[in-house]
Amino acid sequence: MPGRKSPPERRRTGITMTGKTEPLPVTPEKPFAPSAERNRHAILDALRLELVDDDLVLEFGSGTAQHVCHFAAELPAVRWQPSDRADKLPGMRQWIAECKLPNILSPLELDLSAVPPIMDGVTLCYTANTLHIVSWPLVETLFAQAATALGNSGKLCVYGPFRFGGEHISDGNRQFDQQLRAEDPASGIRDVQDLDRLAQGLGFSSARQISMPANNHLLVWER
Ligand SMILES: C[S@@+](CC[C@H](N)C(=O)[O-])C[C@H]1O[C@@H](n2cnc3c(N)ncnc32)[C@H](O)[C@@H]1O
Repeated sequence: MPGRKSPPERRRTGITMTGKTEPLPVTPEKPFAPSAERNRHAILDALRLELVDDDLVLEFGSGTAQHVCHFAAELPAVRWQPSDRADKLPGMRQWIAECKLPNILSPLELDLSAVPPIMDGVTLCYTANTLHIVSWPLVETLFAQAATALGNSGKLCVYGPFRFGGEHISDGNRQFDQQLRAEDPASGIRDVQDLDRLAQGLGFSSARQISMPANNHLLVWER
């Protein structure tokens, strides 16, 4: 995941009544994703055009929950359900506790490689910068879970870098893709045509492609 790596664990010490020093409990540092800080305004500008009051948004791979905290503050009439793998939940809870917003639901453990949780009432599914991280079978799982969560109608909005007709749209995206595949051959920037085929096989429309800063796109499928 792009972003700052965790700094080495620091142990704080306290002076006891006897004058001896003792370790204090370590509070894990709040995670921070610089990319989420950079792109949250542009994503919100695009996403707000897709949302209506009373929507319930299920986010896959929320990471730190920085996006959900920003979006929920700006769109208080929309409810937000962040989710991610178990190891991300403590960090997400720190962000969510600090932003104190009633329209953010308790973070859900949702690992695409495990049995999906059951969710009712979801009207829009959202994910950012996850499709190039997970393997293609998990991309298929994400789309299938979105289709199930949405039922007969709703939107799937996916933000990130994409290829179009097999081509990268910038040298930076090409280099990022090479770096991803070198680290994990199952990962890599996905092609919109492959995603569209997958989505349409699940009953979604073809993707609307919204151009975003820094060679990213927001893709929107509807069903
Ligand atoms: C690059 S981060 C993006 C985080 C966040 N959406 C953002 O834009 O800041 C990719 C996210 O995908 C999540 N992820 C990876 N594998 C996953 C899986 N099997 N199931 C669910 N989420 C997964 C990671 O935990 C991580 O939070």
